[in-house]
Amino acid sequence: MAKARILVVDDEAVIREGVRRILEKEGYQAEPKASGRIALERLQAEDYDLVITDLKMPGMGGMELLKAIRILQPDVPVIIVTGYSTVETAVDAMKSGAFDYLAKPFTPVQISEKVHKALEQRTVLLSRNASESDRGQATGIGNIVGESPQMQKVYRRILQVAKTDSTVLISGESGTGKELVARAIQQNSPRKDQPFVAVDCTSLAESLLESELFGHIKGSFTGAVQTKMGLFKVADGGTLFLDEVSNISLTTQAKLLRVLQEREVTPIGGTKPIPIDIRLIAATNKCLKEMVAEGTFREDLFFRLNIIPIDLPSLCDRKGDVEPLVRYFLKKFGDEIDKEIRGLAPGAMAMLNKYSFPGNVRELENIIERAVVLSCSELIEPEDLELPMPGPQDLGGDENFVPRTTEELKEAKRELRERAVAPIEKAFVLDALKRNDWNTPEQGRPPLKKTVSPGP
Ligand SMILES: Nc1ncnc2c1ncn2[C@@H]1O[C@H](COP(=O)(O)OP(=O)(O)OP(=O)(O)O)[C@@H](O)[C@H]1O
Ligand SMILES: [Mg+2]
Repeated sequence: MAKARILVVDDEAVIREGVRRILEKEGYQAEPKASGRIALERLQAEDYDLVITDLKMPGMGGMELLKAIRILQPDVPVIIVTGYSTVETAVDAMKSGAFDYLAKPFTPVQISEKVHKALEQRTVLLSRNASESDRGQATGIGNIVGESPQMQKVYRRILQVAKTDSTVLISGESGTGKELVARAIQQNSPRKDQPFVAVDCTSLAESLLESELFGHIKGSFTGAVQTKMGLFKVADGGTLFLDEVSNISLTTQAKLLRVLQEREVTPIGGTKPIPIDIRLIAATNKCLKEMVAEGTFREDLFFRLNIIPIDLPSLCDRKGDVEPLVRYFLKKFGDEIDKEIRGLAPGAMAMLNKYSFPGNVRELENIIERAVVLSCSELIEPEDLELPMPGPQDLGGDENFVPRTTEELKEAKRELRERAVAPIEKAFVLDALKRNDWNTPEQGRPPLKKTVSPGP
C-alpha cells in the first residue's frame, strides 16, 4: 500500500518539523507547510489522506482552511491543533467538520494515535463514496446543461460550495457559463431568497466602480449630489457577483481586499464603516495567476478570492455536451417563437461536431437561435447554421482546415493576429526610420531620436 500523505500546517517551524519527524518515523509521508495559504494551494492541486493544521496562524487560520478543505476534498479528515484548548474552539472545529483536535503540548504517542484513527476513518469514507457514485451522479443543476465528466465535477463543486459562505472564483473562457454557475450557487444556497447582485467590473470607469461598490456620501466629490448606497450594502445578506474581476485597477483592488478582510465597507467620503454579510463570487476569463506574476493583480487579493476555484472547461474540450446543448436550445427557441422544430438534419450535427466554438456555449446558443428563426422546415439544415468557418486565406491556405482542438484554435488565432499586426509593425518601423533620416543602429546611430547616445 502507498504511504499515506499527510499535510502538516503550522506557522511555527519547531512544531511542524517535530510533527513531520514523528509521522515519518511511523512510516507516513509528511509535507510540512508554513501557512494556511500555501496549504490551500497544495490542496487545490493534489490529493491528501489527512491534514493536521494549527488553529491560530497569521493570514488564513485553521478554521478557514478547514472550511475550504470540506469543499475541496470533503473526504479528507482534518485534525486541528490548538494551543488555546478551550472547549469552545474544539466544539467549533468539530461542528465545522474537523475529525479531531489536539491540544498543545502533545506527545508523539498522542499524535500517532489520532493520526491512525483518522486514517482508518478515511478508508471507510472512501469506500462509502465509491458506492454513492455507483448510484448515479449529479446531472445538470438549474439551467446548466451538459453531462460530460468535466461538468459533473463542476456540479459537484457547486453543490458543495453552495452550502457554505466561502468565496468562489469562477474561471473560464468567454461564454462558458460563468454567470450561470454563479447563479446556480446562489440558488442552491441558504441565501437563495436574498439578493443576488451582479457587477460587471469592465463596464464602469474606476472612480465610478468604487462608488458603485462602496457607495458615497452626499457632497464627497463633484457629482455626488445624493448619498448613495453601495452594492456591497445592497447585496447584504445575499450574494455579490463580481464579474470580470481582472479589470479592477490596483488601487480599487487594495480597497476591495480591505473590505473582504474586515467584512465592512466605508462609503466614499464617509467615516463610519458599515458591517456587511455577503457571499462573494468572482469571475474571470483571464488567468489571474499570470496577472499576479506580471504584477497587474494583487497576490493577496487573488488568494482571498481563490479560496474555492471552479474552472469551467471550454466547449471544444467537452464535445460530448454539444448535442444535449443543441437539443436544449432547439426546444428553448422553438417554444419561444412557437415553431415546431424536430431536430437537426444529419449533416448539420456533423458540422457542429467539427466546429471549435471559440465563443463557447454562448456562440452555440446564438447559432441555434438564428437557425431556428431562419429554417424553413422542421429540420435544421447545414446551411441554416451559418457557421463562421474561417476562410482559407485566414488560415494559411488549407481550405479544408477547420480548427478543432483548443491548441489548433490558439494557433489559428495567433496566425490571424500576426497577419493583422505585421502591417502596423511595418508602418511603425518605417516611421521611426523616417524620423531618423533612415539611419539604423548598424550605422552607428541610435534607432530613435529620443535615445541619447553616449558622447565620444
Ligand atoms: N452549460 C450550459 N447550459 C445551458 N446554457 C448555457 C451553458 N453555459 C452557458 N450557457 C448560456 O450561454 C450564455 C453565456 O453564458 P454566461 O453569460 O454564463 O457565460 P460567461 O462565462 O459569463 O461569459 P462572459 O465571459 O462572456 O461573460 C448564456 O445565455 C447562458 O445561459
Ligand atoms: Mg459573464
